Amino acid sequence: MTDQNHSLITLLSTENEFITRHNGIDSTAQRTMLNTVKAESLNDLIDQTIPAAIRLNQPLNLPGPVSEVDMLREIQRLARQNNVYRTFIGQGYYNTHTPNVIQRNVLENPGWYTAYTPYQPEISQGRLEALLNFQQMVTVLTGMDIANASLLDEATAAAEAMTLCKRAGKNKSKAFFVADDVHPQTLAVLKTRAEFIGFDIVTGPADALPQHDVFGALLQYPGTTGEVRDLSSLILQAHENKTLVTVATDLLASIMLKPAGEMGADVVIGSSQRFGVPVGFGGPHAAFMATRDKYKRTMPGRVIGVSVDSKGNQALRMAMQTREQHIRREKATSNICTAQALLANMAAFYAVYHGPEGLRKIARRTHHLTAIFARGLIKAGYQLQHQSFFDTITIITDDKTEALYTRASEAEINLRKLEGKLGISLDETATTADLEALFGIFNITDDIQSLSAEIAQDELKAIPEACQRESAFLTHPVFNSHHSETQMMRYLKRLENKDFSLTHGMIPLGSCTMKLNAAAEMIPISWPEFASIHPFVPAEQTQGYAALANDLKVKLCAITGYDAFSLQPNSGASGEYAGLIAIQRYHQSNGEGHRNVCLIPASAHGTNPASASMVSMKIVVVKCDEAGNIDMTDLGEKIEKHKDALSCIMITYPSTHGVYEEQVKTVCEMVHAAGGQVYLDGANMNAQVGLTSPGTIGSDVSHLNLHKTFSIPHGGGGPGMGPIGVKSHLAPFLPGHVENGVEGNDYAVAAADLGSASILPISWAYITMLGASGLTHATRLAILNANYIMERLLPHYPILYRGNNGRVAHECIVDIRPIKEASGISEEDIAKRLMDYGFHAPTMSFPVAGTLMVEPTESEDLAELDRFCDAMIAIKAEIDKVQKGEWPLEDNPLVNAPHTQVDLGSTEWDHPYSRELACFPSAQTKASKYWPTVNRVDNVYGDRHLVCSCPPIDSYES
Ligand SMILES: Cc1ncc(COP(=O)(O)O)c(C=O)c1O
Repeated sequence: MTDQNHSLITLLSTENEFITRHNGIDSTAQRTMLNTVKAESLNDLIDQTIPAAIRLNQPLNLPGPVSEVDMLREIQRLARQNNVYRTFIGQGYYNTHTPNVIQRNVLENPGWYTAYTPYQPEISQGRLEALLNFQQMVTVLTGMDIANASLLDEATAAAEAMTLCKRAGKNKSKAFFVADDVHPQTLAVLKTRAEFIGFDIVTGPADALPQHDVFGALLQYPGTTGEVRDLSSLILQAHENKTLVTVATDLLASIMLKPAGEMGADVVIGSSQRFGVPVGFGGPHAAFMATRDKYKRTMPGRVIGVSVDSKGNQALRMAMQTREQHIRREKATSNICTAQALLANMAAFYAVYHGPEGLRKIARRTHHLTAIFARGLIKAGYQLQHQSFFDTITIITDDKTEALYTRASEAEINLRKLEGKLGISLDETATTADLEALFGIFNITDDIQSLSAEIAQDELKAIPEACQRESAFLTHPVFNSHHSETQMMRYLKRLENKDFSLTHGMIPLGSCTMKLNAAAEMIPISWPEFASIHPFVPAEQTQGYAALANDLKVKLCAITGYDAFSLQPNSGASGEYAGLIAIQRYHQSNGEGHRNVCLIPASAHGTNPASASMVSMKIVVVKCDEAGNIDMTDLGEKIEKHKDALSCIMITYPSTHGVYEEQVKTVCEMVHAAGGQVYLDGANMNAQVGLTSPGTIGSDVSHLNLHKTFSIPHGGGGPGMGPIGVKSHLAPFLPGHVENGVEGNDYAVAAADLGSASILPISWAYITMLGASGLTHATRLAILNANYIMERLLPHYPILYRGNNGRVAHECIVDIRPIKEASGISEEDIAKRLMDYGFHAPTMSFPVAGTLMVEPTESEDLAELDRFCDAMIAIKAEIDKVQKGEWPLEDNPLVNAPHTQVDLGSTEWDHPYSRELACFPSAQTKASKYWPTVNRVDNVYGDRHLVCSCPPIDSYES
């Protein structure tokens, strides 16, 4: 009886409920699919797929699973261990009010956060427009010609600017000047980048710049301690020395200050965080970079540009992609791939919503409250470090520093503590009540109203005249049309409706792992205990974050077989860079700093060689054989040739060809025997979790893309998180941080110690809810789904690579080259035709040109997988008609794809196929149709006639 009761309780318990919610395949579907793939059981399929030599022989050492309710209860407990004080630290991070209409309709809306990078522009016009607004906003506020969208954080943007100055400039020096009033976290990241690229960092007062022979310089405006000064003559003098000048600036300040571009800066960088993006203990936030027209082709990062579609209508797309790492590999200008698209969009929407008048009011209010505080301090006998300021003042407090700081802490107020000084930055959330509290701490007895009245007589006195903004800004109609919540809500919806996201259907992008980003995982990121914490507050206030991060590290170690983790890198590519630095520092510590050869298989993702070249490694490409595996003979020869200089190999597992290479352990052993280290790119971790692991395989370091395997949504091109796991011998070489100095030595790769801390709860929640059994089951289903698609497509399309038993891993590559040869229809035609069928295309031409790589993930259900396979099969039948001559090659539904609503309604139709076939090619599309909003976009035209700012509003309407 008792036993029975116990089992009934177990049967009815909720702990497994999330496993069935995350995974798309139930046991009935599983049986059908196993039949199709001709496997006796799921275990049987896995045994045939993953080589026995690398299988884990015990379950993951993780607890769980737990229900959504229990997970939320537990993370709430952790959240409560963070204390949200009023914080005026500044230093590049500010409180902000995320407009509720943006919070609800963008940040918390899967229509925005589950989209992919807009590589398929015809189904991405909404976020492309939003990103173009971001570029326009940055260009205008900084006074520059062109901006990108976007970079990882202000510190890495500074590092990217440094390398841009070297590429674009004419000064032969290897030194880069950094003014001593640049944020310390920026300086730390610059030092890391400079050391491994062979630059010297010279620091000193900004005024000393002209005395140095340097190829580039970084100035901060306003300075980290708040000073606002005219940089024009310094920049002019630097230019006489052929020094290019980057200015780190602040977007809110730029509304009242003469923009750095008008002072002659060559590059302007900064963070857009305070435009409505929660501070989130350091991230994620979008950094920006703007530059002169003449340097545009050397600017890193994604740039959105205006082009036309096949009907000559305006259409947006990512411009100048040939500069990017996936094309130029080790010659790329940077390794930046996933950036911060969602956050860039939020910042741009903030500007759209407030408009120039609203923003000016926010900037004036922020400045006015700062001016009141400054005047109160002066009247109370305090001395300020600078008389000029926008929102930041530094008070000389000498021996009173500690006492004042403690008094503020007791009032739950965080100030910035400097040597003998206290810094205070106000922001848009500051109120007169905050001023009263600050007045209390500093014993200021004046009345706020009368101070305000005094200042009003000369409102901008604290901003030197030469630094006051006179130029108009954000005059484009998009920033002047959506100020009521109704207008804004509709604008956001209009853009969202143009974009294909996971809310519409599967996004089967190989190597991208577009799985479910569950609502329960997303909920905690909006809580103030995670969202409203400055990254540099005292550690006692962030015990919840510390506990969460530590637990996540323990969990990731259990999953990967590594011994230690750093959560700092803000993207996969940033993780690669941090991992390679760990390897180089390890070699240096062994007296083998000369080791600099990095072996990279031909099939590697473009970020691998780009990252290796950022740490000055010599890249040696290893061939792949016919089956897509590393060519062991070539590997042996290359190791032998470079053994004295071998630093490492970068491999991806399962390979980017979607196969579990049998010989992977031998590869690791060969590299180790020659004194090299193994970097395993963890982008394909979704095919490993619970079944094998990088540690088992024999690798030394990996990054994980938390925005792939561990459920952080892709955000339409970011955020991302690329933490690195290492074996114990590399642990001392993980990144550290100047402010927290918690682990490793400095060598920071991001501005904040935990990188994009506020999205870590997502991965923590994912792992916690699935637990050991759920995670492992998800991997099995990801493999089953890929094999099912492969078996269904096999009679119609050649599949490029398969393992020994004819199985694929979690993705499969459909080879379109023979089809194109026979019919003239290309992989691009198929990708665009899939849009007519209501699908996002698979990854196109990676890792092999002329192919489509499909990764379904475990979250898709059988009906969706079948819908995709049916579409691909129907498309093949269409291709056959072209091949047989039933439709001409220049006029058929494939080459004309995608078709729009305008095509359907146009009065003329002179194609040899019907409108119905064009627009409603399947029964599903008749029931529910997603419409691409433009026809096929002309990339070449856009790059030849480069326009990267918002076109006039009437062109949107045409
Ligand atoms: C195999 C592989 N490595 C590295 C990366 C880079 O990751 P991220 O885009 O986060 O920088 C990717 C991204 O798509 C990838 O597929």
